[in-house]
Amino acid sequence: MDHPPVLILAPLPDFLMKPLLAAYECHDYFQANDKEALLAEVGARIRGIVMTGNSVSPVAMLEKLPKLEIISVCGVGYDGVPVDWCSARGIRVTNTPDVLTEDVADTASALVLMTSRNLIAANRYLHAGAWPSGQFPLAHAVRGKLAGIVGLGRIGKAIAHRLEAHGMRVAYHGRAKQDVSWQYFESLIELARASDFLIAACPGGAATRHLINAAVLDALGAKGTLINIARGSVVDEAALITALQNGVIRGAGLDVFENEPQVPEALMRCENAVLLPHIGSATYETRRAMAALVVDNLAAHFDGRELLTPVC
Ligand code: 8YV
Repeated sequence: MDHPPVLILAPLPDFLMKPLLAAYECHDYFQANDKEALLAEVGARIRGIVMTGNSVSPVAMLEKLPKLEIISVCGVGYDGVPVDWCSARGIRVTNTPDVLTEDVADTASALVLMTSRNLIAANRYLHAGAWPSGQFPLAHAVRGKLAGIVGLGRIGKAIAHRLEAHGMRVAYHGRAKQDVSWQYFESLIELARASDFLIAACPGGAATRHLINAAVLDALGAKGTLINIARGSVVDEAALITALQNGVIRGAGLDVFENEPQVPEALMRCENAVLLPHIGSATYETRRAMAALVVDNLAAHFDGRELLTPVC
């Protein structure tokens, strides 16, 4: 049986590696000590790439893979893939939308609650044995507050429904007004000004790089909290750190960072920030469903069938 050679660009769970090893000749680029040597050895034969939403496949590397046919991203975000470049060369790209929507939305609403109710500090307080001799400070309710969602796609909508269930009001900003009941803000600054929670749920990439900058954070102001479950690149992290340090905004709940897995020391020191290690989709159920989609998309391609979730 034909085992097409594929390059693995990121660490993958066993339940994905196992079916890949059974059907493909897998070459681990991520773990290779000498990546150039690996490309020199197998690059000319590679027909597929498997990567994650937070890994990258730069053009300089893809140019060394003349037989490349497909890039399968285990993630909904494919900002690490030069899609136009691939599409111009007939290289197909797939991702794993839908199956992770609910988990990522759960993570966003958890961050809203963790930041507004100060739950992480409350947990630490009790673990530290402080309860019997003190009174944990009051926090802020979410009901009646405005959640401003930046990017009302599948995940943004799932977040909106959850926050409505918490009694919050919802508004959004995006490329266009949609046929939904929530208020649309053409101006991101105006949305930030109106919002108690500004929630980034848009795709990453050049078009949204540093969309949330110092001016947006100023507009969000001292009553506001920034939540980011999208991509670190969407937020100007240096401006965010300054805003958190100076009380320009009340707080932040972040699952993604500009230079993952590196998080600036200064951000880690901000007590008004809840920081998660990019776990939005990290459940057994969802990661297994994502893995299955990766495997099915690759199989569909190499069997000459239609892709399940094509990007291009
Ligand atoms: C994961 C993600 O970090 O879906 C995405 O775009 O960023 C996350 O779900 C990753 O892709 C896991 O494989």
